[in-house]
Amino acid sequence: MALHREWGGIVPELSARQHIRDICGVVGGALSDAGVADVDAIAVTQGPGLVGSLLVGVSFAKSLAWAKRVPLVPVHHLAGHIESLVLEGGELQLPAVVLVVSGGHTSLYRVSQPGRYELLGRTRDDAAGEAYDKVAKLLGLGYPGGPVVDRRASRGNDRAIPFPKTRITHADRNAPGLPGRRDFSFSGLKTSVLRHVTQRRAALGLPDDQHLPETEVDDICASFQRVVVETLLDSLFDAARWHDARSVGIAGGVSANSRLRADSRQRGEARELQVFIPGIELSTDNAAMIAAAGLRNFRAGMRAGWDLSADASLALT
Ligand code: KG4
Ligand code: ZN
Repeated sequence: MALHREWGGIVPELSARQHIRDICGVVGGALSDAGVADVDAIAVTQGPGLVGSLLVGVSFAKSLAWAKRVPLVPVHHLAGHIESLVLEGGELQLPAVVLVVSGGHTSLYRVSQPGRYELLGRTRDDAAGEAYDKVAKLLGLGYPGGPVVDRRASRGNDRAIPFPKTRITHADRNAPGLPGRRDFSFSGLKTSVLRHVTQRRAALGLPDDQHLPETEVDDICASFQRVVVETLLDSLFDAARWHDARSVGIAGGVSANSRLRADSRQRGEARELQVFIPGIELSTDNAAMIAAAGLRNFRAGMRAGWDLSADASLALT
């Protein structure tokens, strides 16, 4: 985080190089903290994500599995996030509709059998977490943006600024094979926040090195957060009704958001639908969820060969 903060976001090359420096210590530390000397298999994230970082993990995992003579199991990053729900609350009541919201993804899946995922919708442009990070940056709040915007939002008026909600109803011309009707879009919202901030700065005659007054920033954060959370939850609960879901889940870094957590529980109670959300430490990227998804794949007989490679845009099926 300190490295990303210094650059105001993730610089892929710097990230990958830091992974090389850290990976031995992180894996060694995890095993010693857990008091485990031997493992029966090695699970590794194959994708999607930044290819440099993925390659470090895949190469390291292959070497470790080879050296220990144990099987290697590939894991999809988002299947890992979905598995964090199971780690936290046990097997989902199926069918379930799960929203994965992170810095890189905003995707909606239907889960009809354990370990089987059907994509219902995804973002056409920015991920929800990315929108948080960009809005934080333009308000001068630092990186990562989610937690700080969330905190500032709790002090603001969420109706102060009428930011627009984007509702996608047409198919994606660039991806004719995908359903598209439940896709998300957050770039328009980000642009309206930018426009609002630019207008307010001009109206107040602020010099470049000065930020908007605190209460205005709080109101912008609250109004932005209301739109993001309502957009995500409208889509999630609509899909749940449409697919007769018995439960809904929210995973990924943005599921740490306080309003998303509170509002989803409220909507779940109103509809008598079970809502699964992992605890904060399992919401953001972590290795426990990859191990859990790896165990599911391992039990299903999935094994990777020594030719396994990272796949930056791996699909989840
Ligand atoms: O899942 P994650 O740790 O990494 C990715 O796979 O992207 O998600 C990180 C994202 C960041 O964009 C961060 O700003 C966002 O999750 N995030 C939040 C909150 N905590 C983290 N967004 C909104 N509210 C939060 N409380
Ligand atoms: Zn993630």
